[in-house]
Amino acid sequence: MALRKNKITKDTKIPRHIAIIMDGNGRWAQKRLMPRSFGHKMGMERMIGLMEHAFDLGVEYITVYALSTENLKRPKEELEGLFNLFRNHFKEYMARVCDRGVRLRALGDVSLLPEDVQKILRQSEKDTSAFVGKGINVAVAYGARDEIVHAVNKAVETGEKVTEESFSRLLYTGEVPDPDLIIRTGKEVRLSNFLLYQAAYAELYFSDKMFPEFSDKELDKAIVEFSRRTRRFGKTDEQIEQKE
Ligand code: IPE
Ligand code: IPE
Ligand code: MG
Repeated sequence: MALRKNKITKDTKIPRHIAIIMDGNGRWAQKRLMPRSFGHKMGMERMIGLMEHAFDLGVEYITVYALSTENLKRPKEELEGLFNLFRNHFKEYMARVCDRGVRLRALGDVSLLPEDVQKILRQSEKDTSAFVGKGINVAVAYGARDEIVHAVNKAVETGEKVTEESFSRLLYTGEVPDPDLIIRTGKEVRLSNFLLYQAAYAELYFSDKMFPEFSDKELDKAIVEFSRRTRRFGKTDEQIEQKE
């Protein structure tokens, strides 16, 4: 019975857009006396498996927080290790998911990254730009405050007043719908400058698992928990029931 409780069934509501703060890669590796860069590689591999599983379940968008603007202040050696992952594995790993017709978008101030890494991201965006429906967003050199300031400056340039909708389109996420479920692994209970505008009505889920050990079953558990929650968007239960 305990097992069935976390099982996805035909009645489970599947979130359209899941955003993931993949935290805990470094601690996971260090606990195993391995370099932090090994944790980042295992995290990236786990993320690909998780994406394949999520798309199989019917999720349409997956946003992954891979590197924050604040992370850019990490030791040079760790950053180089992360960039080498992009240089050596990003294309091959992403192809596994994108070959199913998934569009890739990079969110963030990509100009802060080394030029060759920028190129890899731009090329992946270009190669998948014709795909509609499913999407992967890789938040890299991403900070929500930077994103909001960037959008405000764009709005100021046009000189036109914005609405909630038009402002939302100026964010790095553009036309991508807001996340329904935000998952953070790694035991921390905070957003760390992730999707602050878009998260207004997202359901939040925190896992004690370090990201490399966040299995497909753990994702199922998060989705079942999401499905159990009542999203009221400010309304009363009665109003929600009437609509259903
Ligand atoms: C998250 O894992 C991935 C990145 C920030 C690049 P961390 O590197 O923050 O891992 P911990 O939190 O130190 O374990
Ligand atoms: C958040 O993780 C950023 C990413 C997962 C990319 P951090 O490890 O940087 O967050 P803090 O510093 O613990 O808040
Ligand atoms: Mg961390």
